[in-house]
Amino acid sequence: MSRVQRLLDAVRKLHEATPELMAYAPWPDDLSAQQVMPHPCPVAQTMGDRKLPGSRSTRPVIQALRAATPDLEWRQTYSEAEVGAEFLQTYGYVELFGPGGHFRSRKLRGYIGFWGPGLTYDWHAHEAEELYFTLSGNAVFCAHGAPNVMLRTGQARAHHSNQPHLMVTLDRPYLAYAVWRGAGMEGLPKMVAS
Ligand SMILES: [Fe+2]
Repeated sequence: MSRVQRLLDAVRKLHEATPELMAYAPWPDDLSAQQVMPHPCPVAQTMGDRKLPGSRSTRPVIQALRAATPDLEWRQTYSEAEVGAEFLQTYGYVELFGPGGHFRSRKLRGYIGFWGPGLTYDWHAHEAEELYFTLSGNAVFCAHGAPNVMLRTGQARAHHSNQPHLMVTLDRPYLAYAVWRGAGMEGLPKMVAS
């Protein structure tokens, strides 16, 4: 089994064992492995040194992510003009499954995203509906029409279609598993005015 397959397996086990994730979307039954070339980013190169304690239930995903990191296609959707150089040094994500992921699915899109401490992921929005599930660390989430919340390891937060949202990380790195469902699943987030 490849390291990326092991990561998928760990995410599947977490997803299937987490009622909030299963209620949001069942684990996709149409996954097929894709040929995706590894692509590093600064975060990937330091992933082994990052303090990501997680919890008992999220630790297998964190361990599998560390192991698979060299084989993953790390992405950064935004340009330096949009988010600044520091953000790009300490942020990156992987589309594990979905329309363009390591495993193809037309039913659900699943990401793992990493943000370093002290970052503001400014107001952005996307057509797809989204559920964030915290794998390690904590972050403050703000969204139009919803109360601000501090999301801790093991906690989830949903955003509806085109709902602008913002995230602030605090004194430790933040690692999340996020799923997208519904219309616009193949799209990208865009920065929006607050
Ligand atoms: Fe989002």
